Amino acid sequence: MTPYSLDAFIADCRKAAAGCPDPADCVTAITPLMLRLLSSVRDFLEPAHFRSDPAHYARNAIYIAPEADLSLYALVWLPGQWTPVHDHGSWGVVGIVEGLLEERAYMALDGEIRANQGIRLKRGGNVLLPPGAVTTFVPNPDHIHHTGVPDDRPRAVSLHLYGRTMSSFHVYDVEAGTRRLINVAHNES
Ligand SMILES: [Fe+2]
Repeated sequence: MTPYSLDAFIADCRKAAAGCPDPADCVTAITPLMLRLLSSVRDFLEPAHFRSDPAHYARNAIYIAPEADLSLYALVWLPGQWTPVHDHGSWGVVGIVEGLLEERAYMALDGEIRANQGIRLKRGGNVLLPPGAVTTFVPNPDHIHHTGVPDDRPRAVSLHLYGRTMSSFHVYDVEAGTRRLINVAHNES
């Protein structure tokens, strides 16, 4: 496979997203681009993108579009680090660089979620994502999940591309049937 630069990937993703009003078409178009990017990942990832944090999984920005319509992060997961149950309010394409990332899905029993309470979620399936794997999601009611690495597995590193700047997302309390919007920080490159 010929090398694929980060700039070319971003340009191709922007072109693909612009031509796809349906997020499902968008992630279908971008999936092979992420697969190709993973083959060149060691060419553009810098030491800063591998920063971890002993307190929680680390979000290291790789590219954030000035138009706020595209963002790419390297997430670094130390053993035992997990997200809360959350959504993204956007489509997303995830590619695995290193380790084995686990994603546990939740299903919204009543379809599209319009309020912050009365949310009925049911646990869905799990996926284990090894290096080179690509997974995608589309917003509301899909894709509510929590993601991480169990205590007994080594560090994982993954690339996450979203259709907006991912500076906030909903966190769900499954038992209470509620959600709230939280701001999430990232490390600049
Ligand atoms: Fe997520």
